[in-house]
Amino acid sequence: MTVLRTVADTKAFGRRLAAALEPGDLVVLSGPLGAGKTALTQGIGEGLGVEGRVTSPTFVIARVHRPGPGGRVPLVHVDAYRLRDAGPVELDDLDLDAEIDSSVVVVEWGEGLVEQLSDSHLEIRLERHDDDSRTATVEAVGPRWTGRAHDL
Ligand SMILES: Nc1ncnc2c1ncn2[C@@H]1O[C@H](COP(=O)(O)OP(=O)(O)OP(=O)(O)O)[C@@H](O)[C@H]1O
Ligand SMILES: [Mg+2]
Repeated sequence: MTVLRTVADTKAFGRRLAAALEPGDLVVLSGPLGAGKTALTQGIGEGLGVEGRVTSPTFVIARVHRPGPGGRVPLVHVDAYRLRDAGPVELDDLDLDAEIDSSVVVVEWGEGLVEQLSDSHLEIRLERHDDDSRTATVEAVGPRWTGRAHDL
């Protein structure tokens, strides 16, 4: 478990995670409203060196951030909040299968929805505490993480 006292800590944690991420990795973020899922994704985006500001998409569900100069891997940022009651069928419409091989795909509110897109995923749970700190727990699921999970 990692303690994240400030939003800066959460972004730094994202940057650190990004160093271990490779094209084809699926990252599923869970935690309540305001837990810091987007802040963590911003840190991952910084670490991957992608272009464009990572924001909470209001009208789009998925946004692709291409690598900038010196960047390594595209980031596909999905906010599945509005899909959480819709189920995997509507998720298929996003056609994430096509992106997943070449990108790092980070899905907010993706728990129970997107795991079937890949044989492996990284589950990151954020919790929000009374003192405004957050804690993160990371669980690596599936064969892609064999021998890599120690980098997290
Ligand atoms: N330790 C912390 N880590 C992350 N965010 C923090 C922390 N402390 C305070 N905050 C604040 O909490 C908010 C987190 O917002 P963020 O949009 O990242 O959450 P979210 O989980 O994506 O929410 P949503 O469920 O609405 O998508 C920000 O305003 C941020 O400044
Ligand atoms: Mg968010």
